[in-house]
Amino acid sequence: MSYKCKLERKQLGSDLVFALIMAKTKQKGEPKMNEEATHFRIYCCGNVNCLARGADDIWRVLDEQIWLAKLSERVELRRSGCQDHCDFGPNIQIWPGPYRYVELTPAKIKQIVRQHLLAGQPVEELLAKPHMRRQTGKDS
Ligand code: FES
Repeated sequence: MSYKCKLERKQLGSDLVFALIMAKTKQKGEPKMNEEATHFRIYCCGNVNCLARGADDIWRVLDEQIWLAKLSERVELRRSGCQDHCDFGPNIQIWPGPYRYVELTPAKIKQIVRQHLLAGQPVEELLAKPHMRRQTGKDS
């Protein structure tokens, strides 16, 4: 077999391997962008009680952790008014939900970003309890 013939055969072999790989890839489907990834909206209470308890620091740490986790495209951060858990601030709400997190600290924010936003598992032990809601006199 001539050198040229060997070369053509080798080329044909690698073309065949490439064609087989492409066929398998098409069977599995094209890799997709993660279109189904959840998008979150987070409301940080910006009212007086939460501000007095460190809401600005919570906002700063949350913003930083979202950026570090490369979640900026999936998480929208907004200020809100009072969330009716004033004695347990600083507070945030995460949607879809609402999941109401209270008595936040930078360490708790890091845990929420890791567990809730990245892994999709709300942090049960940090969620507001019914007795924490401010009594307005409008209920009951
Ligand atoms: S001031 Fe933040 S919950 Fe009321």
